Amino acid sequence: MTSRITAAAASALVAAGALAVPAQAATPEEQRLYTRALAATCAQCHGPDGRAVEGEAMIRLAGRDPNYLLTQLLAFRSGQRPATVMHQITKGYSPEQLEAISQYFANVK
Ligand code: HEC
Repeated sequence: MTSRITAAAASALVAAGALAVPAQAATPEEQRLYTRALAATCAQCHGPDGRAVEGEAMIRLAGRDPNYLLTQLLAFRSGQRPATVMHQITKGYSPEQLEAISQYFANVK
């Protein structure tokens, strides 16, 4: 009983730790989970996995060109592209994180 609880707590800690792993020093699986966690924030406005549905007010990110996405995110971050919310949101991420997020959404089919 106690050991079960401990195991659950331990796996929760491992999961939390995965988020703190820097993008560079992770195994491919850790990297995937880390990027997924970063990208989860975007679902609120761009749909689950960036899959906004055609005709909705949301902007689709899934399956779009990664270079386009990254260019837009960096332009929001620097203030070069005016925005209502994205300039604030992108400031919470490093350029490396934005690149990982761009790749993540580009790879969503
Ligand atoms: C609070 C809602 C909200 C959240 C959260 C949000 N976005 Fe956005 N996003 C917008 C809006 C609104 C726009 C249109 C530009 C603007 O007014 O800020 C936009 C525009 C974009 C664009 C430009 C799309 C194009 O076709 O040019 C990209 C790329 C983008 N968002 C990526 C992201 C990513 C990646 C995240 C998560 C890190 C994210 N957004 C989180 C609301 C949001």
